[in-house]
Amino acid sequence: MKLSDLEPYLKTRWLGRRAIFAEELASTNKTAMELGAEGEAKGLIITAEKQTAGRGRHARTWHSPAGLNLYLSLLIRPSLQQYRIPELAMLTAIALRQAILSIEPDLPIGLKWPNDLWVQQRKVSGILCEAASTQKFGLHTVVGVGLNINSTLENFPEELQNTATSLKIATGKNYSRAKILAAFLNIFEKQYDLWENSIHFDPFIKTWNSHDILVGRQIELCQKDNIIKGTVLGISQDGRLQLRKEDQTECLINAGDVHILGAVKK
Ligand code: BTN
Repeated sequence: MKLSDLEPYLKTRWLGRRAIFAEELASTNKTAMELGAEGEAKGLIITAEKQTAGRGRHARTWHSPAGLNLYLSLLIRPSLQQYRIPELAMLTAIALRQAILSIEPDLPIGLKWPNDLWVQQRKVSGILCEAASTQKFGLHTVVGVGLNINSTLENFPEELQNTATSLKIATGKNYSRAKILAAFLNIFEKQYDLWENSIHFDPFIKTWNSHDILVGRQIELCQKDNIIKGTVLGISQDGRLQLRKEDQTECLINAGDVHILGAVKK
């Protein structure tokens, strides 16, 4: 991808007005975090055709073959307190879902807490937010987005073939990555500005809950030394997962890996 592919569709004020389109990087998040620590201003976007050490959540790797998909990092400098950063991943998932729907309106895309997009019971996108601060430049945050766009099943390693998908696998079509990227940046910028000026996550909860694939489902939540089973009730005001445990008590979950027990709707 290059700037001239993106520019005709880009309507943002501050996001993506400085952009790096790399052929190959270890990880776009890694580079963005380094530039953030060096004082780079908010709004920088970095994409790579290929990542050799794409970072996933829980120290996993993100499979990133060349030329097919979107591997993107946004550098931002939220004026909000650091404890609200998890909301940012959810905000990103909402914006990305809307962006895909602006191009493929009938695709049933679900949101899976904390930050995945799912299509036809498989993961199509993952989001990884990272934050750090330096004495000189304060807090910088990187929003990393991996979206499988034009991969076919054979492009995935065997161990992902039953759990991952792409837009192409779901619809049989090829997509312009630049158009999807521009649609996402246009929507994200608006929603981000709204979020940064709101005192809580309220405006987004309703949208999240209406596309949440976990609501009402039996799940197993895996944390470091702990597995909790329960039924998902929804998302709390601050973006935590509301769970009714097997002993019928309710709890709020900050982090963990969710495994759905039984089939999902979308
Ligand atoms: C997940 O585990 O679900 C999150 C995956 C996030 C992957 C993206 S690809 C672009 C950006 N750079 C990285 O190294 N990771 C994120």
